[in-house]
Amino acid sequence: MQTLSTTTSLRESISAQRMQGRRIAFVPTMGNLHAGHLQLVRQASMLADCVVVSIFVNPMQFGPNEDFATYPRTLDADKAALQAEGVEMLFLPTVEEMYADGLEQATRVEVPGFEGDLCGRSRPGFFTGIATVVAGLFNRVQPDMAVFGEKDYQQLVMIKRMVRDLCMPIEIEGVATMREADGLAMSSRNGYLEAAQRDRAVCLYQALSVVKAALDSGSRDYAFLERQALESLQRAGFEPDYVSVREQLSLRVPGPGSRRLVVLGAATLGGTRLIDNISLSIT
Ligand code: PAF
Repeated sequence: MQTLSTTTSLRESISAQRMQGRRIAFVPTMGNLHAGHLQLVRQASMLADCVVVSIFVNPMQFGPNEDFATYPRTLDADKAALQAEGVEMLFLPTVEEMYADGLEQATRVEVPGFEGDLCGRSRPGFFTGIATVVAGLFNRVQPDMAVFGEKDYQQLVMIKRMVRDLCMPIEIEGVATMREADGLAMSSRNGYLEAAQRDRAVCLYQALSVVKAALDSGSRDYAFLERQALESLQRAGFEPDYVSVREQLSLRVPGPGSRRLVVLGAATLGGTRLIDNISLSIT
């Protein structure tokens, strides 16, 4: 596996791959890789001939009181895991490489409608930070396709929108969430949970599953179901942020004709923010 930290060296290596007619799949990450990330890498390997992974803890997507400084950085273990998966290239840019004139002066990409909705409501600047870094990474790697986890559902919808609106010639592939045995969605932030919190963390998935079951059984009172889920999370010791039923593709609040839905939730447990979602179709 080649490890590259400059755009110039990355581009040279990618050109060499392209000269051999190889298709490039890209998996952007912030590192601290778990089985969910490795699933993205495997999907990327199935879709293309050469897999490029980036590890960059992007300061632009963290708020001033968030965990940028303490976000788990486990580069040696990450490299070993990627090597074992047969990844060809690891891109490890510095902050200066990604934001030449510093964060404040960086050109930003904002996809309308995301900053003020769902996770965007309580994390100002989060989605603009993600869209900006992903656009910057896409321009550096110029992949044929890029793979993202469905766990970050709002992020995935936003990236698809950005690629469409900016006419980027990149296919975006979503991969189903990997879950622990009890159903908890895998996440780098699960490592922050103490043992007792870890046991309770699955309540988020359970609360969303209850909403899904009610929708499957014909209930359409979304507001009531969302309220019930928030109350159950509170009882389980979470500080809920939101539980919301939306349309899968647009993330709009469902109307009478909506069939493909997603139940999304975010809640904090002992200071750790957890998110999850479940997709479903109704008739
Ligand atoms: O999902 C993530 O890990 C990050 O938001 C991403 C897409 C790598 C951008 O920093």
